[in-house]
Amino acid sequence: MRTGGEDRFGPGAYLQANKMIVSRTLVTLEMIEQTEEFPTLTIIRHPLVQHKLTILRDRQTPTKIFKELVDEIAMLMAYEATIDLTVEPLDVETPLETTVGRHISGKKLTLVPILRAGLGMVEGILRLVPAARVGHIGLYRDHDTLQPVDYYFKIPGDVAERDFFVLDPMLATGGSAAAAVGSLKRAGATRIRFLCLVAAPQGVQRLSEAHPDVQIYCAALDRGLNDQGYILPGLGDAGDRLFGTR
Ligand code: PRP
Ligand code: URA
Repeated sequence: MRTGGEDRFGPGAYLQANKMIVSRTLVTLEMIEQTEEFPTLTIIRHPLVQHKLTILRDRQTPTKIFKELVDEIAMLMAYEATIDLTVEPLDVETPLETTVGRHISGKKLTLVPILRAGLGMVEGILRLVPAARVGHIGLYRDHDTLQPVDYYFKIPGDVAERDFFVLDPMLATGGSAAAAVGSLKRAGATRIRFLCLVAAPQGVQRLSEAHPDVQIYCAALDRGLNDQGYILPGLGDAGDRLFGTR
């Protein structure tokens, strides 16, 4: 009697496996998207990121799950955003012999969440890069003018030695992100990336015009903004959903 299990090793299985490889390859090619319109933007299309983002968008998702998802997506995005960190050879003794491994060299990584919502992205990235330092930028968006109002700035001292990852789940008008990056640059930072979960085209435009040297990473480039400056379709107010306010 033939079973499904035996089929896996029959002649049809080879074709099937090849089909799987082809479709896997296609998926792999789409995992990272770069657009001609925004050359500094990288959209991370990894299935895990997209799956989690969809749950995050759902208005029914409770605060506890929302927080866990922001943390997980940030970690997955950081995997991509650190892909070009420089490594150098390092001798390592295994239990059997000595070999040459690699370790990350170069600039020290500093995470800079924009308060409040950026805080939700810190722990996930720290799990990947535990040696990273954490600075903080306090900004809120005035509800009427939509202009950023800054209230706090604290980053580690040896600024020139550092790579900065500015974190904020939402890039809406781009005012907060552009202001945060501007503050970092005034403090002497030269190597800055911006990681967000959801971006509006207006925000990407504003940030990339103000700071063309800053690479932007997001999990989704959404359609636009509503009259109150909320991203559409977006996920609502990230700070409120993270911290259960309102
Ligand atoms: C949200 C978000 C960003 C900003 C994005 O913060 O976390 O910082 O808005 O909007 P923009 O791109 O138009 O500047 P918010 O001002 O609501 O502050 P909060 O995190 O303290 O709630
Ligand atoms: N800030 C948020 O938290 N959500 C948006 O959609 C826009 C700005």
